[in-house]
Amino acid sequence: MTYFDQVSEAAAFLRSRLGQLVPKMGLVLGSGLGAVADAVAEPVVVPYGEIPHFPQSTVVGHSGRMVAGLLGGVPVILMQGRVHFYEGYTPLEVTFPIRVLGALGLRAVVLTNAAGGIAAGYRIGQLVALADHINLMGFNPLVGPNEPRFAVRPGAGLRFFDMTEAYSKKLRALASAAAEEEGFPLAEGVYLAVSGPSFETPAEIRAFRSLGATLVGMSTVPETIVARHMGMEVLGISCVTNLAAGLGVTALSHEEVFEAGRQVEHRLARLFERLVPRIVAYLETEP
Ligand code: HPA
Repeated sequence: MTYFDQVSEAAAFLRSRLGQLVPKMGLVLGSGLGAVADAVAEPVVVPYGEIPHFPQSTVVGHSGRMVAGLLGGVPVILMQGRVHFYEGYTPLEVTFPIRVLGALGLRAVVLTNAAGGIAAGYRIGQLVALADHINLMGFNPLVGPNEPRFAVRPGAGLRFFDMTEAYSKKLRALASAAAEEEGFPLAEGVYLAVSGPSFETPAEIRAFRSLGATLVGMSTVPETIVARHMGMEVLGISCVTNLAAGLGVTALSHEEVFEAGRQVEHRLARLFERLVPRIVAYLETEP
């Protein structure tokens, strides 16, 4: 069975489990941010383990289930937990769920993550919208034969495609306005992705800063690349869970990352309740 057929089978399974509920967009929740799913009304929960061909998450803080339902009154599908390259998954496995969201017909996805803050002035618990990324993971998930059937809009699914606006300007503007209404500023940053699982050295962080990165993390970038290949619009939101190596006073730990996520997940949930209906309304104005 081809990868494309596996994705199609997983999507067909999910469609049958969701019944009447047809999600209009997808959200992926990063480390410590899973409680956003609690804001979903009339939830239908599907553990990853039940979905054919779906990779299982092994990290503490990533529960590993789909939650579909209403967010801000609009039908969405939310991934509570993702799989990472550092867990030993291949790039195709890491991006499988995004392909499935595309196969469900979704044209926009919000990717959230926990990240180390590199820019001076970032505070722990701050939310930052991604304006761009730098891929230092060491791979591109699209290496291999191109599969144009993954496209969700005309003109997408190309072998070579533009990444100038990897993160949608329009979705960022909507997010920034919604955050302001919620009473907090949404900074913009550049996310640099590493494979992990070790955190960075202080010298690496200095190097990344000089490259133009303001955030560092171990996810999101492969998912963004694959989403853009399909023609989906991407909103990336990082939660600054710690100051990057060498910038804080304490050693980095997964517990710290997880705890900081826990402290902002409610703010994130309120932001999404406000933002998601606006994103969906915007998508409906597009051809
Ligand atoms: N480095 C890499 N990934 C991360 C970090 C970090 O400091 N914090 C959360 N995810």
